[in-house]
Order: sequence, then structure tokens, then C-alpha cells
Amino acid sequence: MTAHAASPSPLTAHAGTALRGRLRPPGDKSISHRSLIMGLLTVGETRIEGLLEGDDVLNTARACRDLGAKVERLGQGSWRVEGAGIGTLLEPRGALDFGNAGTGARLMMGVIGGHGITATFDGDASLRKRPMKRILDPLVLMGAEVLSAADGGRLPVTLKGTGDPAPIEYRTPVPSAQLKSAILLAGLNSPGRTTVIETEASRDHTEKLLAYFGATITSTPDGAHGRRITLEGRPKFSPRPIITPADPSSAAFPLVAALITPGSEVMIEGMMMNPLRVGLLDTLLEMGADIVVLDRRIEGGEEVADLRARHGALRGVDVPAARAPAMIDEYPILAVAAAFAEGETRMRGLSELRVKESDRLAAVAAGLDAAGVDNAIEGDDLIVRGRGRARGGGVVATHLDHRIAMSFLVMGLASEKPMTIDDETMIATSFPTFKPAMTGLGATFG
Ligand code: S3P
Repeated sequence: MTAHAASPSPLTAHAGTALRGRLRPPGDKSISHRSLIMGLLTVGETRIEGLLEGDDVLNTARACRDLGAKVERLGQGSWRVEGAGIGTLLEPRGALDFGNAGTGARLMMGVIGGHGITATFDGDASLRKRPMKRILDPLVLMGAEVLSAADGGRLPVTLKGTGDPAPIEYRTPVPSAQLKSAILLAGLNSPGRTTVIETEASRDHTEKLLAYFGATITSTPDGAHGRRITLEGRPKFSPRPIITPADPSSAAFPLVAALITPGSEVMIEGMMMNPLRVGLLDTLLEMGADIVVLDRRIEGGEEVADLRARHGALRGVDVPAARAPAMIDEYPILAVAAAFAEGETRMRGLSELRVKESDRLAAVAAGLDAAGVDNAIEGDDLIVRGRGRARGGGVVATHLDHRIAMSFLVMGLASEKPMTIDDETMIATSFPTFKPAMTGLGATFG
């Protein structure tokens, strides 16, 4: 059963205790989805260690099974996939339900779009609101057909893929790794070259994994911040072992919790330091955060490091729009850090936040209002006027959004009054161990 079937479960976070200890965040969600999909598309056995066992990823695992892969859990985070291979997927018998997961749904649309099979995609109330036309448009150019879709190309969508996808060159209208990945995954079964051009570089996990499994793929700079990525179709994949580094987007919560909770000192272990994912760390360091990056090393093809974070004063900063792709999921928790900083933080160019698991711009502003934090939305910018502390109190509406839920629980660990969220259920989509992990550091929920 997916998380959206559960009934809402409110949770309150209380201040009072310093956070101390070590924490290894769960495996990276983006890499976890992609690892399973690589396993599906590779004949032979793909072993994955450190897979995130959150609801979002488990839905992708189920979809891989429905498409013909044998997917088995061997132990905590340890999985084995025996794939069907590029060009030989099975047509799924029922609808593919991706629950809350945009990544799972969109990447799998790419996979199906490039195969001669038909599948229906569905999800929870949040996923049904999110834009899918941006994915369907290039897939149609490649030869796929949208047999049915809800208003504006939303889920549920029935997509008829093509077994002979046309090689295309496509400039993405929004900086989205999910869109880029969908096109590349469709291009895997194309007889020619597929090129994606992005104006702002987005996370590159798909490109790295495709190359690691044996595809010929190049990525070159394009313009000031962009990339041009070209993939040769119909590669011969060889199964490779995957080690999943710790997710910087989940690490963000204990990291900021330590920075804003008096007396805290927390060590975050093995966080992925991919430059396209560390915008929050860069921003927190600019804010004067006491974070020391230790033991940089390579794990599973990615640079990782341990981060020692201590409570201390923060100052407001101006966050440029160009940094958004490298910290797109971290704005809710950055807004919480900004509330505890002295002075104004302006986060620029956040239009994509309106189409995440919730309208995050509105949800963050409403949560800050509930906590008595001075904030404003100006165009696509979010402004938080921090005063070094937050009153807290009030109930925050999470709108089926895990990151809104965790962000305002973190706020409650340091605000004068407790913070309550209306529903903790969705936290299981990306950080199922959030509550015990945070409680282990000294956090009080109840
Ligand atoms: C993701 C890309 C981002 C991010 C999402 C995960 C991915 O979405 O917000 O949580 O794994 O590719 P967009 O590609 O829509 O920006």
C-alpha cells in the first residue's frame, strides 16, 4: 500500500534539548530510483547497496517488476535486480501507481515512451496535480502517443510508447533533471543519437549511471550555466554494482536542526557532495554556519564527506536564481534556517517550487506565517526577515509534502513554542527513519 492511502497523523516538535551525536542519512532518492531503472534495463544481475527504502522508491521497484524485472530485497538497503533489458520490457497488466513520486513517474514515462508498449501512470492527489506535459511533449516528438490524460496532461496518463524512438535534439524549457532523464531514457532504445540541451545544469545522476553501465554519453558546457548532453542509442549495458551515497536533500534536515538548536553538535556521515546537489551547503556557509567538511572521499562514483555542524549565529544572504537547480528541494529547510538568521534572506527564481509535491512557495510562506516569521513572496522570490529566533506555535498544513513536514518539525526543535504539522505520513516517502534518527540526536516529538 502506498503512503497516500494512510489517514493523516499530526506530529509536534518541541524545543529544549541540544542535538548531539552522529547520523548517516538514508540513500539518495534520485540515485535510488535510477539504480532500479538501470537494473530493469540491463540483462543480468544488478546489485544495489544503500538503496533508499522509502515509499517513493518502493513504488519504482514495483513498477520495474511490472515491466518484467525480478527485483528482490536481500537485506537492509541491499537489493538485487535481474533486468529485462533495453527493448524487451513487458507490457504491464495494471496501472503503474507511483504514489507521491514525481521522479518515479517521470523517469518511467521516458522508459515506456521509448518502448513499444502501453502503460497507464497514476499517483496520489499530489502527483495528480503536477505537470506531466513537459515530459510528454518530447516523448511525442520521439514517436510516443498519449492515449489519454487528465486536464493539462496530468495523471492519470495512458502512454503508448514506440519501439523505434526517433533521435531528437531537445532544449528543455525548464531546468529539470527529471525531464532530461526521461528523454535520455527514451533515447536508450533509439537507433540514433539523442541530445538534450539545458540552460541551467541539473543533477547529472542519470548521465553518470548510463556511462557507468556502458553507454556512450557526452556532456559539454553550453552557455554560462548550461550543458549539452548526447547519448548514443541502443548501448550494450553490462550490470555493475551500485553503492548509494547518503542523500544531501535528507541530510539537510539534521544539518539545519543542529545549526539552529542551541548547544548542538552533530556529525552527518557520508553525505554526497556532487556539485549539482550542494547548493544548500554553499548557502549555509555564506550565512556563516559553523559547518566543517571532513574526510572527502569517493564512494560509489560520487564524492562524499562527513559534515560537522554546530549551533551558532547565522546572517541573512541573497541566494541567486542560478543556484536553484543545485538546491531545488532544499528551499523549505533553508527558509527555516533563514528565520533563525539575523537579517533578510532573499531566495530568487523559485517558480519551479510551485509545482513540487505541493506549491512549496505558498506552503513555506503559510508555515512561516503560522510561526510568526516575517516573510513575503515577491514574484518568484521568497523573502524571509530573520530575527535570530522564531516564536513558533500554530499548525502547519503539509499538503502531502514530506519536505514541508520535516522542515517545520525542525523549526519546532528551536522555536519558542512547539510546532505542529497536520500530517507526518508523507515523511516515509523519502526519509522513513527521520523520527527515530532525529530522536536519537535528542529531538523531542510527540
Ligand atoms: C529530481 C529532480 C528534481 C527534484 C526531485 C528529484 C530527480 O525535480 O526536485 O526531487 O531525481 O531528478 P525536477 O527535475 O522537476 O527539477
